[in-house]
Amino acid sequence: MPVDGRKLERAAKRAMSREAYAYVAAGAGAGRTMAANTAAFDRVRIVPRMLRDVSTRDTSVELFGRRLDSPVLLAPIGVLELADRDADHAVARAAAAEGVPMVISNQASTPMEEIAADLGDSPRWFQLYWSTSDDLVESLVSRAEAIGAEAIAVTLDTTMLGWRTRDLDIAYLPFLRGKGIAQYTSDPVFRGLLDNPPEGESDIATREQPKPTLRALGTLLQVLRNWPDGALDGLRTGHARAAVERFTQIYSRPSLRWEDLPYLRERTKLPILLKGILHPDDARRAVDEGIDGIVVSNHGGRQVDGSVATFDALPGIAESVGGRIPILMDSGIRGGADVFKALALGATAVLVGRPYVYGLAAGGEAGVREVIQNLVGEFDLTMGLAGCTSVAEIGPETVARDG
Ligand SMILES: Cc1cc2nc3c(=O)[nH]c(=O)nc-3n(C[C@H](O)[C@H](O)[C@H](O)COP(=O)(O)O)c2cc1C
Repeated sequence: MPVDGRKLERAAKRAMSREAYAYVAAGAGAGRTMAANTAAFDRVRIVPRMLRDVSTRDTSVELFGRRLDSPVLLAPIGVLELADRDADHAVARAAAAEGVPMVISNQASTPMEEIAADLGDSPRWFQLYWSTSDDLVESLVSRAEAIGAEAIAVTLDTTMLGWRTRDLDIAYLPFLRGKGIAQYTSDPVFRGLLDNPPEGESDIATREQPKPTLRALGTLLQVLRNWPDGALDGLRTGHARAAVERFTQIYSRPSLRWEDLPYLRERTKLPILLKGILHPDDARRAVDEGIDGIVVSNHGGRQVDGSVATFDALPGIAESVGGRIPILMDSGIRGGADVFKALALGATAVLVGRPYVYGLAAGGEAGVREVIQNLVGEFDLTMGLAGCTSVAEIGPETVARDG
């Protein structure tokens, strides 16, 4: 497994289909946010201090009452089957082996109950997309509680899918092929909607279709293959196709407002985090609304082209939060030095996204483990070489702006 990030991505690209790689690697529009996310880290430099006895170091942090060995979590990533057939199973086993929390995606390829079984006692959070159906939101949250999730991260930045140029060029969206909708097809509320379509949509499964093309037939075959009760059942009941259609109608609520948050608060005692915060005022409001944590994120540059880089947004947000709730950040974390810089400027912990997907594609479970080991190992080393023996010592004075 290449340690170098670019080589790792190339190895993953070789192992993936064209569509799969495009979906994972893509950013919105011209990819300017993705580029900005990594460039932002280049503008801040670590200023190492000497002669401080760094022979023993403690990389642990505390988050929502749990001590983690390192300030790293696996970001929620949907449709992991695009990288490896073992998908979420492999990632969960790797996370458990390395003691790193996994944030289970709402768009996972595997029902959360199965992922939880692979995780054993290892920590897990659940990432929620706020559906147009309140009942589905409630059901997903209660399932997350039942599998021992320790927090709910509500992703706010994807109420509509971003303009993903590469996917559009090849007209590819995995969900339309029945991939990445396992949390839905395993959900009793969602399945109930397939049997009893709302008024005016009773023909959803049997509606007359335009003349089939070869491509459409191929898509239908994939949809059937991905139906959890088997292709024959999917075809006979019409549920496989209905599930995809229903998903596209229900998955997200663009009308979501601050006023909706109490609905979630009333339904769970778990810590709630808002993922996708980029403005200090939104961060302050999250604190005022009683939210337990935020994730400074631009979805890995997949939503808005030309968005502010998360690392650039972090200091202002940290100032407005003033240490009242934990701040996590993601988008552009590519090595242990990036983790160090994020902590120096106010993050409590970071989430890593694409790098572990590339590890999964290139080397399966072992590949994910290596990516985690390399990230955590480089962070530990950077901390020591910068003259810090614990995370508490990584403050703003340990870095300087370039130039
Ligand atoms: C292929 C892919 C799928 C993703 N799926 C989800 C998802 O289901 N839910 C979510 O909140 N974020 C999702 N994200 C965003 C990640 O959680 C995270 O914010 C982002 O990947 C971090 O940026 P990085 O890839 O530069 O590390 C996805 C990202 C990628 C690359």
